[in-house]
Amino acid sequence: MERLRVTGGASLRGSVHVAGAKNSSLKLMAATLLSEGRSTLHDVPTITDVDYMGELLRRLGADVVRTNGTVVIDVPDKIAHEAPYELVRRLRASICVLGPLVARCGAADVALPGGDAIGSRGLDMHIAGLERLGAHVEVQHGYVVARAPKGLRGAMIGLDFPSVGATENILMAAVLAEGETVLDNVAREPEIVDICQMLVDMGAKIEGAGTSTLHVQGVERLKPSEHTTVPDRIVAGTWAVAALMTRGDITVANARHTHLELVLEKLMAAGAVVETLAEGGFRVAMSGRPRAIDVVTLPYPGFPTDLQPMVVALNALADGTAMITENVYEARFMFVNELARLGADVRIDGHHAVVRGRESLSGAPVVATDIRAGAGLVLAGLVAEGETLVSAVHHIDRGYPDFVGQLTQLGADVSREPDPDRFED
Ligand code: UD1
Repeated sequence: MERLRVTGGASLRGSVHVAGAKNSSLKLMAATLLSEGRSTLHDVPTITDVDYMGELLRRLGADVVRTNGTVVIDVPDKIAHEAPYELVRRLRASICVLGPLVARCGAADVALPGGDAIGSRGLDMHIAGLERLGAHVEVQHGYVVARAPKGLRGAMIGLDFPSVGATENILMAAVLAEGETVLDNVAREPEIVDICQMLVDMGAKIEGAGTSTLHVQGVERLKPSEHTTVPDRIVAGTWAVAALMTRGDITVANARHTHLELVLEKLMAAGAVVETLAEGGFRVAMSGRPRAIDVVTLPYPGFPTDLQPMVVALNALADGTAMITENVYEARFMFVNELARLGADVRIDGHHAVVRGRESLSGAPVVATDIRAGAGLVLAGLVAEGETLVSAVHHIDRGYPDFVGQLTQLGADVSREPDPDRFED
């Protein structure tokens, strides 16, 4: 186990390049299972979650070769249909092989991912959607067991909530179902548009990507694809908040400002100067103390829940009091106890957090409870007086490629070291 030693005080300045999105890459990798043959994915981030997904695809019979940002996946004609617990528990997103496996093999045994530090994260909509497509689905011995020996049939499906994972799983099953599927109240995240684009390139017939309704005309087979992953808007947003908190000036290259409209608007309301760049990407600069900003998390195009820990950290030292409302994950405020160790004044009431800005925070040992909480704590450490030790850094490695390298390049005083107090669980 390792930890980060963050010494507060530096103002981050310079340029960072954002790689492809974690939340897209993992699903694009799963989508390659839908066709026999060699698919190539570019701009895949160098993060451990991608390693885990690669391992899972290998277990299913694919050959996966990764060279820097490019992943080449060779999928054989016959693939296995069991995603075992020891792999799924390490990567909750491995549930996204469920749809492709049922569509391709007529059978899937995918371990239930189990508990998670940010909430219960149910699978009811994934399961109901696959059942509407004609699969028989049961939970047995800790596995989602889905069977469709005669193949899937298109159907009208309405989601109770625009779940990202359920949209992806049902979509990936529907592209090979017989006939038309109308999928209503779907997620509209840029990562959904990205996967739709890849599926269309593979030969799928999908209309409505980026809207609330997807029309899918099933096809008999798909072909492999070469695809470049959409840039990671959450990593880009993290850099934007870092610029603001440290009163710095960061150019975020390869980011798409159109995917962060609401976030950048909020940061401007806090006092940042935001400039979109002709060559792509944007620049965020800040002088003086940020003003408090209220934030309500919602499915895209609402404010992303994945940036909620960063705005709580930002408000912890802003001028004024902010109300943060978390509508996506019930337990996502858990990390606030760690932030309080740095001196933050945050009161939680259900899914609301009231953050009273302090003039300063003070460094302390804290524990990253998940990827985004980890990034939020590092940002807080950058502006806290003295040293902050962020342990369980493996969470951050799941989602931020070369975080320490990029922070250092921007002038932060951050280093990685063995954590004598913690052991791998
Ligand atoms: C994805 C992202 C995650 C992001 C989230 C919301 C990946 C790997 N992860 O997660 O980073 O925070 O979208 O933008 O892409 N729900 C149910 N039943 C279901 C499905 C979901 O109750 O069948 C609930 C979940 O418990 C959660 C909410 O819906 O409270 C949102 O979940 P969902 O949109 O599915 O998020 P994920 O796909 O898990």
